[in-house]
Amino acid sequence: MEKVVVIGASIYLDFLSKFGVSGAHPGGIKLTKKIFVNEKINKSSRILDVGCGTGQTAAYLATSYGAKVTGLDINPIMIEKAKNRMTKYQLPVDIIQGSIEKCPLKDSEYDFIISESVLSFVNKPRALKEIFRLLKHDGRFIANELTVNGRLRVNSEEEIKQFYGLDSILTENDWITLFQQAGFKNIKTFMRKPSILQNHSMPEFQFSEYIEPELYEIMQQHFNIMVKYQGTLDYRVFLCTK
Ligand SMILES: C[S@@+](CC[C@H](N)C(=O)[O-])C[C@H]1O[C@@H](n2cnc3c(N)ncnc32)[C@H](O)[C@@H]1O
Repeated sequence: MEKVVVIGASIYLDFLSKFGVSGAHPGGIKLTKKIFVNEKINKSSRILDVGCGTGQTAAYLATSYGAKVTGLDINPIMIEKAKNRMTKYQLPVDIIQGSIEKCPLKDSEYDFIISESVLSFVNKPRALKEIFRLLKHDGRFIANELTVNGRLRVNSEEEIKQFYGLDSILTENDWITLFQQAGFKNIKTFMRKPSILQNHSMPEFQFSEYIEPELYEIMQQHFNIMVKYQGTLDYRVFLCTK
């Protein structure tokens, strides 16, 4: 029987890993595909998917572009599910367990780094410092992250932070400031209207053998929060260059 792995005290991340939810970011894999259309990826491109989860984006980039892809995630259950995916589809994607706050990869290795709904869960300045270090000169960093439109009331902010296990919830400008402080340039932002709840593609699931009963409530609680804070809780895609 698997034990619950508490990562950063986020029951939401426990739920995602035990249910093996793919495309666990706003817009899902549909939005991921749209984002990469405008990037110059080819067979020799080296790409790091930070917080790769079950590896859906990493697999897509390896299959569609023939790129050399690495997936990094801190959660051993996610790692196992990402590895299963690569084995199933016979994809030469490296899946590595580690934290983006301090990771075991070499400097200036990657042409592209993507983080889809990951930075919100970690120490952001530390993770961004690592991402900057890992990117080649002129490399591209793409992040799809939870963003708040305006300030939340204290109680609301606490409710969201506690449920997702976040240390802060940032506005678009807060994110841009952090990216600039980490050294990134040419920062562009976009968001697909109308909201975080729409434009979503259906996720796939890779269920664990044992799932704690309390985790069955979490998906509903996640949607309740999304509905409750619709219009305020949102996301942005940030595209920047080292
Ligand atoms: C919301 S999920 C998104 C997963 C994937 N990017 C996707 O879109 O399906 C966040 C992921 O970040 C991972 N994660 C959390 N903290 C991390 C850290 N410090 N380093 C690497 N991955 C981390 C979690 O294990 C989880 O797989």
